[in-house]
Amino acid sequence: METLAILVAAGRGERMGAGRPKAFLAVAGQTLLVRAARALRAAPSVGAIVAVVPGDSLEEARGLLDASVPGCVVVAGGGRRQDSVKAGLDAMPEGFAGVVLVHDAARPFVPADVVEAVAAAAREHGAAIPAVSLTDTVKEVQDARVMGTLDRNRLAAAQTPQAFRRDVLTRAYRRAFADSVTVTDESMAVERLGLTVVWVEGSARSRKLTTPDDLEWAERLVQDGHA
Ligand code: CTP
Ligand code: MG
Repeated sequence: METLAILVAAGRGERMGAGRPKAFLAVAGQTLLVRAARALRAAPSVGAIVAVVPGDSLEEARGLLDASVPGCVVVAGGGRRQDSVKAGLDAMPEGFAGVVLVHDAARPFVPADVVEAVAAAAREHGAAIPAVSLTDTVKEVQDARVMGTLDRNRLAAAQTPQAFRRDVLTRAYRRAFADSVTVTDESMAVERLGLTVVWVEGSARSRKLTTPDDLEWAERLVQDGHA
């Protein structure tokens, strides 16, 4: 079963506070956009990549990708993450019936074995995500008050790429949009349909780069020769 990837890179990067979309920030001289595309390409089963970028950065993104990950399709994203994913889905070949991966440009260090594992799980089960177990004790809070403690053994933090058979993701997205629901990841749209989503072990290296601290962590990772 063929596997295509949607790389979402159209966010504004507000929390990074760099004054520009974070996909265009560099770690050790290479943008998150290019690093994330290379990470996907490093996984043997990934075929075409559709990169979804801010509408005013299409040409810049094409230039960057053509230089190091040739063959990517580049399209404009939308206001919410799910609008960007939808733009990527709309750019898939019409008859494509394989597995679609949706990956954050903000997770440029995902190991190829995680990509392969989640794609394989989606081939078998229809929908799969990478996740990592939590080390902190997690509290439910309201304003200044701690309301309770969640059972950590029942919780996991979701990562990307999330992987779906194309029909599953298309159906889930159609429903989320029809119901005017905002979803924070693709799995949530599929969960709403009552379909099974399985999880595979994610990776600490696939940390989402959100704040300047995360970018410093990324610089160290590369400098220490781990990426
Ligand atoms: N994303 C996107 N389109 C959006 C919003 C987010 O393609 N409208 C992408 C981001 O580019 C990123 C991924 O979704 O690769 C995860 O989002 P996040 O880490 O929240 O990135 P930003 O939205 O850019 O950051 P912030 O929320 O701090 O503005
Ligand atoms: Mg965001």
